[in-house]
Amino acid sequence: PVYRSSTTAPVNIAVIKYWGKRDATLNLPTNSSLSVTLSQASLRTHTTASCSAHYAAHEGDSLLLNGSAEPIQHSPRTQACLGQLRSLRSSLEASDPSLPKLSGLPLHIVSTNNFPTAAGLASSAAGFAALVRSIADLYALPQSATELSRIARQGSGSACRSLMGGYVAWRAGSAADGSDSLADEVAPPAHWPQMRALVLVVSAAKKHLPSTAGMQVTVKTSSLFPTRADVVVPRRMQNMEQAIRARDFDAFARLTMQDSNGFHAVCLDSWPPIAYLNDVSRAAVRVVEAINQQSTDAGAGLLAAYTFDAGPNAVVYYLERDTERVAGVFRALLGNERVEGWEGSYGQDIKPA
Ligand code: DP6
Repeated sequence: PVYRSSTTAPVNIAVIKYWGKRDATLNLPTNSSLSVTLSQASLRTHTTASCSAHYAAHEGDSLLLNGSAEPIQHSPRTQACLGQLRSLRSSLEASDPSLPKLSGLPLHIVSTNNFPTAAGLASSAAGFAALVRSIADLYALPQSATELSRIARQGSGSACRSLMGGYVAWRAGSAADGSDSLADEVAPPAHWPQMRALVLVVSAAKKHLPSTAGMQVTVKTSSLFPTRADVVVPRRMQNMEQAIRARDFDAFARLTMQDSNGFHAVCLDSWPPIAYLNDVSRAAVRVVEAINQQSTDAGAGLLAAYTFDAGPNAVVYYLERDTERVAGVFRALLGNERVEGWEGSYGQDIKPA
């Protein structure tokens, strides 16, 4: 027989950024981070994992990503994930001899993104989360999402947050072996279902310094970095969790923008300097500032928050009730081809606007 399991994992966009590793082999971060998982219907990876004794044993494991074979034999990160999932399955098989011996069979993994992989839109987060989840399901592993986050983290740090929906924290932990560096759900999507995200595709080209390399340069050379990791982010994590629990969008927006700017500040402070934002990114910042200015002038709170990862694309968070005043303004300015908006509640079946 062929054993098969399929799953999807959405992209997550951090509002408190992961930037810096304390252990590059185990992929352990220097600080905790917090993200919002986008809806399954927006940006996601779909993955099918299968295994069978009929797959020629000499063939080994394979991964087809958007139709092209990936050289996973040379990817220590993918090997770490596959090795740990296999060893959990083989313990199961040892404790119950009636189970089929799947752990010894080659795995065929087929993965597709519903957005351009090259767009720099956190594809590795959704990709490794879907890879780990599909194989864990194929192997019928009893481990929880938090336990699986330890494995996904070794594929790509941000991937550990895409195993859960809603508002997710990745706790940096302090153990040298990484056993306490895990993701947990701060709040489910239903806690604050009015949250919306707009992804502004400033550039679909992938020509910037990848995050894995960029954060190593920052840890080694930025003099501002230790303060960010040791002092600023721990405090900000607490305030962000509080803002989410209280559904306080004004505080959520301020903390999100401050953390994005703090992260890009330590990038610029690195040597050689790392600059991810471009003129279009900065124009998006000015639009958000103008929207917020209007609102605060009228005595109300912030309506929109921008955040940028390791590239020029902006993600703008806002609340459903402000769709016209936020998404509407961006659409009018940029035209629909640059604005991918997802309107609806997270975790529900929503359609692109
Ligand atoms: C700026 O998770 O891609 O998006 O662990 O080396 O794979 P690796 O890094 P990755 O870094 C993401 C960095 C970020 C911030 C974030 O998502 O928290």
